[in-house]
Amino acid sequence: MSSNMSVVTLLTLTLLAAMFRSSSAHQASSSIGPQGEASNGGAADPAFPWSHLRLPSYIVPVHYELRLHPNLTELRLSGSVRVQVEVKNDTNWVVLHSKALNISNAMLLDHSMAALSEQVLPVLHHPGHEQVAVFSPRVLSSGHTYFLHLQFGAELTEGFYGFYKSSYKTGAGETRVLASTHFEPTSARKAFPCFDEPSFKANYTVTIRRSPEHIALSNMPIEKTVRLNEDLMEDHFATSVKMSTYLVAFVICDFRSVSATTSSGVKVSIYAAPEKLHQTHYALEVAVKTLDFYEKYFNINYPLPKQDLIAIPDFESGAMENWGLTTYRETSLLYDPRSSSAQDKLWVTMVIAHELAHQWFGNLVTMVWWNDIWLNEGFARYMEYIAVEATYPELHVEEYLLNVCFAAVGRDSLNSSRPISSAAENPTQIREMFDTVSYDKGACVLHMLRHFLTDEVFQSGIVRYLRKFSYGNAQNQDLWDSLANARDTTHITHLPYHNTCSEEDFTSGKFCYNDRQASKNAYLFAGEHLNLTAMMNTWTLQKGVPLVTVTREGSRLLLKQERFLKAVLPSDPVWATLQQGYLWHIPLTFKTSSSRTVHRHLMVTKTDSVDVGDQASWVKVNTDMAGYYLVHYEGRGWDQLTQLLRENHTALSYHDRTHLIHNAFQLIVTGKLSMGRALDLIGYLPSETHTVPLLEGLGFLGAYYRMLEKTAEHDVTQKLRTYILRFFGDVIDRQTWEDKGSVTERHLRSEVISLACDLGHAPCLRQANQRFADWLHSEGKLSLPADLTETIYSVGAQDERGWEFLLHAYTASPSETHKHKILSAMGSSRDKNKLSRLLEMALEGEVIRNQDLSTLVYLVARNPHGQQLAWAFFKKNWGFLVQKFQLSSFCIRSLMVGTTAWFSSAEELSDMRSFFQSIEEQASQLRATQVALDNVQKNVLWMEMNLGPLRDWLNRHIH
Ligand code: BES
Ligand code: ZN
Repeated sequence: MSSNMSVVTLLTLTLLAAMFRSSSAHQASSSIGPQGEASNGGAADPAFPWSHLRLPSYIVPVHYELRLHPNLTELRLSGSVRVQVEVKNDTNWVVLHSKALNISNAMLLDHSMAALSEQVLPVLHHPGHEQVAVFSPRVLSSGHTYFLHLQFGAELTEGFYGFYKSSYKTGAGETRVLASTHFEPTSARKAFPCFDEPSFKANYTVTIRRSPEHIALSNMPIEKTVRLNEDLMEDHFATSVKMSTYLVAFVICDFRSVSATTSSGVKVSIYAAPEKLHQTHYALEVAVKTLDFYEKYFNINYPLPKQDLIAIPDFESGAMENWGLTTYRETSLLYDPRSSSAQDKLWVTMVIAHELAHQWFGNLVTMVWWNDIWLNEGFARYMEYIAVEATYPELHVEEYLLNVCFAAVGRDSLNSSRPISSAAENPTQIREMFDTVSYDKGACVLHMLRHFLTDEVFQSGIVRYLRKFSYGNAQNQDLWDSLANARDTTHITHLPYHNTCSEEDFTSGKFCYNDRQASKNAYLFAGEHLNLTAMMNTWTLQKGVPLVTVTREGSRLLLKQERFLKAVLPSDPVWATLQQGYLWHIPLTFKTSSSRTVHRHLMVTKTDSVDVGDQASWVKVNTDMAGYYLVHYEGRGWDQLTQLLRENHTALSYHDRTHLIHNAFQLIVTGKLSMGRALDLIGYLPSETHTVPLLEGLGFLGAYYRMLEKTAEHDVTQKLRTYILRFFGDVIDRQTWEDKGSVTERHLRSEVISLACDLGHAPCLRQANQRFADWLHSEGKLSLPADLTETIYSVGAQDERGWEFLLHAYTASPSETHKHKILSAMGSSRDKNKLSRLLEMALEGEVIRNQDLSTLVYLVARNPHGQQLAWAFFKKNWGFLVQKFQLSSFCIRSLMVGTTAWFSSAEELSDMRSFFQSIEEQASQLRATQVALDNVQKNVLWMEMNLGPLRDWLNRHIH
């Protein structure tokens, strides 16, 4: 970066010298600037010395001493920071981040704490870049240490980023205020002036003042507490390990906690509002188990003495991994055994596993820059599955992994997708990197890589990566290098017995990874000369998902790869352009009828072929969907698989069956497979015994029904409804109305019963109505089966009295997961006035909290009677929403895509276009705008291509 710097004008320096009226003019005029281009940001101080979004690299923070006094009564924050910095190049400037802070009293001290100037130093502002610059009259010289001291103040306002105010109501109706932080990615600068970039890692020593009725929490444990006076306490926290600014956290609240200790002695505590303490026990068990698991899996101990997990009443996203103090939305941490469903429990387990994975992936090793945020989020998402599968096998989390890949395919098959690693410079672009591509495609690509390398090599490679870059930063290449040099660790030597680890051997904790003993080659089927970087670059630097078309020709299987695209047809003139230059290195796998093994082949060219033998009656490519690619079978391929499913579906794993269903329904959008053939393929489902493929098939039909329900196509809609109910009749009838069985059975039950009632299945409605009436009669005291509560409430919400009672219950309920179920039910009302009322309440933010606004709007948009209301609401309140939640926040993006998700007509598409036109300045900054448009374009195309065939197929099958 420093290469782009240019010299600051003499005028600027003279001006500054005058401003702080200090030392001699000589010092000022001979000062050395940070060589940034002349500042051009409109709102910036004209003399601002730096014009880049990223900070100069010649001043590096080493240690922050941070003193904070958040006043929860006056809702003000005052504080001071003393940053120890190291200077790499002579300069007169310290440029750092600050946003909406009132900075006073800037001072620079030398290594012996002597002030460089007797006067307070001038601070220049560049609000557009969220930066300030402190001018030193004396040159700060290269190789020396200095201390920058700043005092600052800020408002503690409502919101979700920076240091913000949150509140909750006690059972007695009293409002309690707390203050909490969420910094990632670029909001630390809203709480204290800092070098707010992930590569500037430093140690932090934090001191917080608070009133005696509160507690203060931060990343590290408290070392001592001093009573300053009757009303003021001061907590001194231990100095942190080296970490990035976005991981710093503080909470001041009146919460209580439960604690336990991990086997390696880490104190784990779960904090919640006092009246919710009984909902914290499950999280405590999960956190302890998961930390124990990660310490073993990564073979690196968690480095802090404690890990606090806290449920914050106002939280925009799901959770945040601040080191040693992870913060959660209440629904992501609290588990109420009385009202939480099996799915709620799974969610809590996964979220904790995710945030704790970050303590290594993200906190210990951080990406160099936000363009590679997938190294944090993709890994954390994937580790959720590895950890929960190991720690809670009964939850069968592996059954959900395919959905992660399906979500990735959904986004990646539209042209608006992006490569996993993509440029992101300003805060809006950086926030938008937290998306399906970083999380789900990232996880799915890692899954493919793990299968390719074997579990052992993958694990030892990531251990190597984590060790090598501990307390530092890494980029993609570092990961590929670590994985490429990794060996199977099943041959590791236990040091105490073989104390012979030579220098070339890689040591890790108690273990010695002995190269000579490594027997398994990492590249089981690719040969020794595989270039892992070249292979992985095709997945991380190139957007999109490949489609492999396979054709049988005698004993050969001909292969062809192309980019899979959903909103564009090959007949479209842009098709060829969109295909140009795309090529993946695909670790192909397949099974055939005539052999039991999984065959492997690395496909690195556009076309290729493999031998499958003459005998095979069927071939199934992409075994268990461990690879991130779709498959189309030309010729008789699909028919053979359809027949196989009909005759002997267990010849394929449930993963393979699910994958086939997903694949087929993807292809019908592109015209490669007809609607009828996809429906024929799932014709075997009534005899399907596994939940995952069953739900996959049911999911597509349910989604089609939802899309058609809003159109004037009443005849097709009715026929589809009849078909689904008849087709899944046995499955529906098999369900009981209780929370019994395995998590998998409970999941199936809740989905099937929900769909049945949604489709107006009479026995379902009868059961639900009866249970709702009993619940009403008991004044809400009766406990309903947790997995079915949402459906029962939704049926009950259809009449006036039921809806009003639910609203009352919503206001009174002490459990956020329970409240979510009620909200979902109220949002399913057919009464437009009720839906409008909900939207208004969401806007007010009193009864329905702001954090739940996007969920509520999404629920209303999903309802055929609310779709237009939700869209109109979004358009009307755009300005307010952006101000409240920030452009590119989870909330704004999910509103954009969510309110339009079910649009499927050209008129709706053009309405969207004209609205986005009217907010062009903002809309054009967001990828989400194009995602929403592409998505609807895809729906329109689906309607054009598939409505007729669906009608015909249904006419043939429903009489
Ligand atoms: N690091 C993120 C939190 C975050 C949220 C960062 C918004 C930047 C912007 C955290 O680890 C995360 O991924 N949270 C998820 C929940 C998780 C279980 C996937 C979230 O908030 O949705
Ligand atoms: Zn995360």
